[in-house]
Amino acid sequence: MRVCSVVGARPQFVKAAVVSRKLRDVGEEILVHTGQHYDEELSDVFFDELDIPEPEYNLGVESDTHGRQTAAMIAELEPVVEAEDPDALLLYGDTNSTLAGAIVGSKRDLLVAHVEAGLRSENRSMPEEINRILTDHAADYCFAPSEEAVANLAAEGVTDGVYLTGDVMYDAILDARERSRRQSTIVEDVGLEEGAFVLATVHRASNTDDRANLAAIVDGLAASPRPVVFPAHPRTVASLREYGLWKRATEQLEVIEPQGYLDFVRLLDAAERVATDSGGVQKEAFFLGTRCLTLREETEWVETVECGWNRLVGPDERAIREGLHADWEPASNPHPYGDGTAGERIVGLLEEQLAADASVQTL
Ligand code: UD1
Ligand code: UDP
Repeated sequence: MRVCSVVGARPQFVKAAVVSRKLRDVGEEILVHTGQHYDEELSDVFFDELDIPEPEYNLGVESDTHGRQTAAMIAELEPVVEAEDPDALLLYGDTNSTLAGAIVGSKRDLLVAHVEAGLRSENRSMPEEINRILTDHAADYCFAPSEEAVANLAAEGVTDGVYLTGDVMYDAILDARERSRRQSTIVEDVGLEEGAFVLATVHRASNTDDRANLAAIVDGLAASPRPVVFPAHPRTVASLREYGLWKRATEQLEVIEPQGYLDFVRLLDAAERVATDSGGVQKEAFFLGTRCLTLREETEWVETVECGWNRLVGPDERAIREGLHADWEPASNPHPYGDGTAGERIVGLLEEQLAADASVQTL
């Protein structure tokens, strides 16, 4: 089996690391990095720490408008796929890199597989929501992390090729939690005390590209009764500067560079609670037993809210402040995202399905 995996942004490196390892044990992988994330701390550090093989191709498509960026990825990816002629194209998550892969794969009549299929925030103004919907509908195989995701697909008429696999980020965190406890000194390095600080991340367009929302988040976080450490995404740094909020943020929060995966997982594990608009971080907080305030009005990871580990506070200063002061006990500890073997399941299913498909073609 020859599979071409397409990645481009930070969370995709984490997800692909889990599957790549297993894939290369039983078949051949051609790893393509679109170039969507290119800074050392958003890209290289993940390849080093997670021992991801050097990509066979880097398309070098960097930041641009969504349309131009996605178009450039499509134009650069198509000849790679043509030259390599893989059995399937493997895509992760909901970024523009994912959508570009879905379009190239479906236009060339290649088998397209989507990891993290079926998530829905029901907010169609979110670029990622459109990327997810289009990718799920173009894919031949949808690997869903939860029963809820399977139901979302069914509600849109997608039932063929849907498999409940569990979530690859759960596989990743089980390994990273132990490694980060052994190896990372980030908590001490930043001068924090285990269990006595808040971790915050912000990078969602609806927050970074809206001055009022970003100001409300900074002010809400600043009202925390505990120190707040804030590894800032480059787009957030740019917006804080552009909107004249940089001084306000750096005076009240411990703004640091984006962290590598192990240091970040250590911070999340050691934090008293986290405030974030990230999809991956909401889930990782749940896996690590860290309570989460989500700086959005809705989430695609609904199970984390239903069981009480995650609260939706939106970009609302008062709700953030209250969420940071409130004491609450999560209602339950369910396991909606599998048992930590999603990577194995995905590779097994790919092997099975590609073999079945090949035998149909030779009939
Ligand atoms: C992208 C994904 C988002 C995902 C996130 C993970 C889309 C539409 N968005 O958002 O779903 O949650 O990655 O982190 O695909 N920049 C740098 N250095 C880099 C990369 C980006 O400085 O290495 C800056 C540029 O100014 C760029 C901005 O960040 O314009 C946004 O980058 P982009 O990749 O478009 O979106 P993200 O916000 O990173
Ligand atoms: N992450 C990291 N360093 C950081 C912030 C996040 O390693 O400074 C990791 C985090 O542990 C998770 C992934 O990046 O695995 C989430 O990426 P992000 O929040 O950028 O994107 P999203 O999940 O919202 O798509």
